[in-house]
Amino acid sequence: MVIAPSILAGDFSKFSRELKRVEKTVANWVHLDVMDGHFVPNLTFGPQIVANARPHSDLFFDTHLMCSKPEILLEPFANAGSDLITVHVELEDQVSSLLWKIRSLNKQVGLAVNPPTAIDKVKPFLEKVDLLLVMTVNPGFGGQSFIEECVPKIQQVYQWREEMGLDFRIEVDGGVDFKTAAECARAGANTFVAGSALFGQRSLARAVKNMHKITTQVSNGYQR
Ligand code: DX5
Ligand code: ZN
Repeated sequence: MVIAPSILAGDFSKFSRELKRVEKTVANWVHLDVMDGHFVPNLTFGPQIVANARPHSDLFFDTHLMCSKPEILLEPFANAGSDLITVHVELEDQVSSLLWKIRSLNKQVGLAVNPPTAIDKVKPFLEKVDLLLVMTVNPGFGGQSFIEECVPKIQQVYQWREEMGLDFRIEVDGGVDFKTAAECARAGANTFVAGSALFGQRSLARAVKNMHKITTQVSNGYQR
């Protein structure tokens, strides 16, 4: 089980200090939300921030691109030190070449699907990804409520993964708290992005540990 605290819920004016806080927890990952003000109605940061942070952190940089033109950002983020780069299946006919490009940059490959998008859209790409991200809110902002209707999508992806004998990670992102994380783990998720539920606690370390424990218990050891 991987917990990926989302830096979006941290204080951007203290970026590297927030990374250090994450580093002191049992999480080995940090989730980096890149928003372009077009694919989603919000803006965050670009590759320079990641490049500046990289020498100060050993965390796995899970980079979620919510961008209409990720093709111009793949190389910059790869050079900046992202470990995994996720693009959205909503980009349709560009998806294949984007996934190929991420792979050719020697980075792990992620594919995300928004709540209104049919889960069937990701099926043709499952053999090409290291991580499939099932969005459980409409992306753009932290602190939104978990959309329950997304849970069957996790089950479907889990079933396909078993049938196809693949081993990509199944990640959930949006409104993930201690209760909904358990629900997602039960449905087959093994990677949990959480922002406000973790950063909102007095002790980030204790919160991450708790979420790790809860999701591991629920999955009963059948997931990594
Ligand atoms: C939403 C982002 C999420 C966000 C989740 O657009 O993709 O990664 O940080 O935040 P919470 O956990 O607060 O819903
Ligand atoms: Zn995200």
